[in-house]
Amino acid sequence: MELLRFSVFWCGTILFGSILLEEAESSRVKIRKLCKFCDERATNCTGKRTCKVDCEITAICPDVQDVCVTIWRKTANNTTFDTVCHNPAQRLHDLALEDYNNSKCEMKEVVGMGSQFFICSCSEEECNENIFFPSAKEAQVVAVIMVSLVPLLVVAVVVVTFFYFYRVCRQRKARSKCKRGPPLDFSDAHAIMTDEEGSDSSSTHANNLNHNTELLPIELDVLVGKGRFAEVYKAKLKQGSSSSGGEQAFETVAVKIFSYEEYASWKNEKEIFSDADLRHDNVLHFLTAEERKVQRQYWLITAFHPRGNLQEYLIHHVIDWHDLWVLGSSLAAGVAHLHSDHTTCGRYKVALAHRDIKSSNILVKSDLTCCLCDFGLALRLDNSLSVEELANSGQVGTARYMAPEVLESRINLENIESFKQADVYSMALVLWEMISRCSAIGEVKEYEPPFGNLRENPCVESMKDSVLRDRGRPEIPDSWISHTGIQMVCASIVECWDHDPEARVTAQCVAERFYDMEYLDKLSECSDSEEKIPEEISAVDEK
Ligand code: ADE
Repeated sequence: MELLRFSVFWCGTILFGSILLEEAESSRVKIRKLCKFCDERATNCTGKRTCKVDCEITAICPDVQDVCVTIWRKTANNTTFDTVCHNPAQRLHDLALEDYNNSKCEMKEVVGMGSQFFICSCSEEECNENIFFPSAKEAQVVAVIMVSLVPLLVVAVVVVTFFYFYRVCRQRKARSKCKRGPPLDFSDAHAIMTDEEGSDSSSTHANNLNHNTELLPIELDVLVGKGRFAEVYKAKLKQGSSSSGGEQAFETVAVKIFSYEEYASWKNEKEIFSDADLRHDNVLHFLTAEERKVQRQYWLITAFHPRGNLQEYLIHHVIDWHDLWVLGSSLAAGVAHLHSDHTTCGRYKVALAHRDIKSSNILVKSDLTCCLCDFGLALRLDNSLSVEELANSGQVGTARYMAPEVLESRINLENIESFKQADVYSMALVLWEMISRCSAIGEVKEYEPPFGNLRENPCVESMKDSVLRDRGRPEIPDSWISHTGIQMVCASIVECWDHDPEARVTAQCVAERFYDMEYLDKLSECSDSEEKIPEEISAVDEK
């Protein structure tokens, strides 16, 4: 009972309160406005800045909806103010009042009224007494800003457009300069792996890991190379069993040995090599990968090339124009094959970036063609690239051969072409090394690596000083370009080491240009021909 009485009391109180509130609300709405109300009066107001209307009458507007309105008009004879109350639901002088909710009366000019005509409306008490004209100064300031900004904007747009087209043109030029020569024929590429001979490479992932518990019968011979992660040995791969006490037949192979700690590097290189589509005359032929548990080692078994790496070869040999052509064209063809996303038969293949192209990572085959090796840092440029792989791929390789954008760690990770462009830069330095040891340039100096003025293994910081700050590149003396072929290769080199990665030509383009120069090579072969390139005649081949 107590509870019932308590509830009835509170319900009543709440109901009464809300009725009072409603009444107060409606009485507030119903208050009519006080406005200046003199109808038409002459005035001295010039229609600039602010004016006070000359009206001593303040009226309570007749209608609760009414707002205060002032009109200023100037004809040839007089200037007047109209001050009135007006219901904004109705038009006034055939005009709708748009600004009547304002607290101040801010004049707006209306054209086509037969005179200079300004009108304002507002809702505060007597708000149509002080009126505000749009400031001519403000309008002027806006006009001045506009006038000075527009030309600036136009200039900015022109500059940006020019820059954009300049870049597009450079890129197009770089591409179009590469006129299509004869298609490169890589059809004679074949594997040394007898178990895969004749395969049409239809499987993109021929995993060559030797899964047999029985390891290949390999006998290590001499150490032929030492890298960051592994050592390379010349080795004997025994073939079958020895016949009646005679010498056992063997094939010479190279064995790259990684310690257990370098598993990641072995795994990456093994996975890169396991792609059958990588197989190419200008890419080191891969035999198999093994885990040698007893020695706690990982092995990669590949073809062996007795001439060793290109750097060693250039240190000990002066080459002639023909050698340069063979070495250079095969290098470009190898890099082009890595970078390509299709095989010679047109089938899709995963493009690769080598990311550590340098003369010591290129082997010289017995026919003097190059083959690329050391794929420990190579990157598959496909969708399988993980975010982590991409994030870690900013700055890898050898500082001396790093492209400017790699030195700066500003490689565009979103565009796979950027990795190829960085390879092309490194390839240009290798081509330069070849020319520096070519008799066709005249006097040939001792071998020097690119940026040979720097210490043995320059760090990224000193390379940044040379390549970025000083925009330095290896020197191409005038004497070099007196030979037509060398001149053409130098032109490609300069395009390949352009500071702007996008402006660089592709490796495919460089390979095609070499093929277009084949006639120069043929000319140099005719030693007694009239057309023989003069430098070739006097060249001393130290080979
Ligand atoms: N140095 C590194 N790899 C080699 C190979 N496969 N053949 C010869 N020398 C090498």
